[in-house]
Amino acid sequence: MKYQTIRSLLAAALLASWLPLCGQTSATPEQRANLLLSKMSVDEKVGQLNQVFDFSGLPGMPAPAQKLEDQVRQGQIGSILFVTDPKRINALQKIAVSEGAHIPILFGFDVIHGFDTEFPVPVGMAASWDPEMARKAQSVAAEEAVHAGVRWTFAPMLDIARDPRWGRISEGAGEDPYLGAAMARAQVKGFQGEPGQPLRFAATLKHFAGYGAAEGGRDYDASYIPEELLQNVYLRPFQAGVEAGAKSVMSAYMDLNDVPATGNTHLLREILRDQMKFNGFVVSDANAVGDLYTHGFSSDAKDAAFRAAVAGVNMDMGSGTYLKNLKQLVTEGKVSATALDDLVRPILATKFALGLFDSPYADGDESTHAVMLAKHRDLARVAAARSAVLLRNEGGVLPLAKTTRRIAVIGPLGDSQYDMNGPWSLTAKPADTVTIVAGIRNKLPGADVRFAQGVQLRKQFPSMFDGLIGPKPEAEWDADKAEATMKEALSLANDSDVVVLALGESALMDFEYASRSSLALPGRQQELLEKIVATGKPVVLLLFSTRPLDVTWASQHVSAIMDCYFGGTETGNAVADLLFGDVSPAGKLPVTWPRNAGQIPIYYAHNLSHKPYGAPDFTSRYWDLPTEPLYPFGFGLSYASFEISNLRLSKKEIHTKDPVTAVVTVKNAGKVKADEVVQLYLHQKSGSASRPVRELKGFQRITLAPGESRDVSFVVGAAERTYWSSATHGWTLDASEFDVWAGDSSTASLHDTFSVVQ
Ligand code: BGC
Repeated sequence: MKYQTIRSLLAAALLASWLPLCGQTSATPEQRANLLLSKMSVDEKVGQLNQVFDFSGLPGMPAPAQKLEDQVRQGQIGSILFVTDPKRINALQKIAVSEGAHIPILFGFDVIHGFDTEFPVPVGMAASWDPEMARKAQSVAAEEAVHAGVRWTFAPMLDIARDPRWGRISEGAGEDPYLGAAMARAQVKGFQGEPGQPLRFAATLKHFAGYGAAEGGRDYDASYIPEELLQNVYLRPFQAGVEAGAKSVMSAYMDLNDVPATGNTHLLREILRDQMKFNGFVVSDANAVGDLYTHGFSSDAKDAAFRAAVAGVNMDMGSGTYLKNLKQLVTEGKVSATALDDLVRPILATKFALGLFDSPYADGDESTHAVMLAKHRDLARVAAARSAVLLRNEGGVLPLAKTTRRIAVIGPLGDSQYDMNGPWSLTAKPADTVTIVAGIRNKLPGADVRFAQGVQLRKQFPSMFDGLIGPKPEAEWDADKAEATMKEALSLANDSDVVVLALGESALMDFEYASRSSLALPGRQQELLEKIVATGKPVVLLLFSTRPLDVTWASQHVSAIMDCYFGGTETGNAVADLLFGDVSPAGKLPVTWPRNAGQIPIYYAHNLSHKPYGAPDFTSRYWDLPTEPLYPFGFGLSYASFEISNLRLSKKEIHTKDPVTAVVTVKNAGKVKADEVVQLYLHQKSGSASRPVRELKGFQRITLAPGESRDVSFVVGAAERTYWSSATHGWTLDASEFDVWAGDSSTASLHDTFSVVQ
């Protein structure tokens, strides 16, 4: 007790000596951090590198082993994650700033696609090909989170995913580095604002790097990525996020080319800091510092702390390995005092930049929640509608007439509030969420809209997360119940004018630790689908999932298919806007859609090796399946029809550093106002290395009224033609001939060429 009092007095004296200077607004956050560092003990510095979980707000989760309040009081915690209740945040913060090390805590959380208001999951947001919408959505998410006292998000996730068996495909922007970079930039700006603007919320680029390439799509498994693929594909979105000013980066869980990403000096220093010029701080993924031992990389926990520190991991998420070992490593001279300061500085600088020293508390409470929600919901509705991709619309089944009276909504995703919010929506209240049934009822109050679940959606092997952060897994229905429920759905279908079939995956099937071996519709959904189609009623299939599913049968037998991802709070209203033609779908696939899991990996920007597909004697590489995907990257239909024509290049020959401008004319030849995403692809015909058959190098989403035409232009500069060559081991800009295609998907055929000369 006595010791505590003396310590508090000393701390107060210490605070008094540096606080005036810390408060100097003319000093930069780094200068303020340096001044503070000069006054801190080794213990206090190590405390800043320690991040702890507090799951106490989640039902069923264990209380932290040591009372967090005590650890905060002792200055052992720099950051806490998973607390989202402003009252608890303020209580812990009060201890941090008035006792302990007198340094505010940085409260972090996975604000992935919303906080109170959920927006579409990130891969759905990418399907909108609308970075400005992603910026606005993340800026709302930041505003709501800051209101609660959360000042740091572990997003955006920038992992390129070319294997949809990987459940975390939901959190990224899909397979393409150019689209991924555009979404990265937009999200960082949404979370943080423009560089130079006052900072309220900090973003994290994750998971650095190569996590999406886990072998077999099995979450947490090792990745093997050759240098050229790493540089040209996997790192591009991260570079864009760094340039947009992201304050932090999260090191990934897995081994990259045999070296764990969290102990990988080449990755975290040579690439991230030296090449990419990142100057924020690196936080490990959860327990990843401690796990360096599990990987067979570190000899023990102390060695794990040493190797993570040497690699440049500033903050240890959850493992406590830094807290237990770093001081000793400093005392032994294995980690120098300067190296320790270098680890702490960017964390303190971020706290200063966020204004936490001046204003550490949350200002939000429950009463303001609803007020904020109303205007945010409007944006979420627009975002969800912009994300949907219309895959098929034979005979113009869609849009449905508003005079339709008897509407059957059938399927396990037709009325599930929890699932519509999507994975990583822990702070949203499912009760706020509009399901498909509710959305259609809102749109057509006079119609008879009835629902039947039809079949059950269940994982064979639930993960450790199921039941903790989502509903508890339901017991398997017995045969009688399964038959009765199927029958009920069929009789409802028979008794309707149209069936809206909501199939796919539950949100927790598209999550961390949620890999799949197949892309089939889970459970008995395929059977339900075929039986409903056999009724002869018009059927609209709505797909909810973030990975492409095997809908080969549906693509031949169901008139209309729309991929809706998980749209968030306003899913049902947005889907109703699309179903009944108030909005025309215009989303485009951010991934190549395989026919089945046997085609994986499949992506459009592949190299053309021996025997191109389409060659007359080789119609398919597989003898049991076409080589082409079911739907190509960039594909998506509209209620309008667009003509893209007249590709003009500003020059036919340019020097290596010069740009060329490509212009096309886009005309809405349809009957309704609609958006089109105009896409530009490039192919380098020769050079120091083979280049992909085509690569996205420009896109614009535009709105045109019926009959309206517009010229859309793209600048293809040196940046668009520069690539990492495994032949030169560096960034290369070749003289070569280039193909250019413009159109509405990656199979665009409008073509021209230009030459680049030295
Ligand atoms: C995930 C991260 C996440 C962290 C904190 C980890 O399991 O891989 O993406 O930010 O948990 O929730």
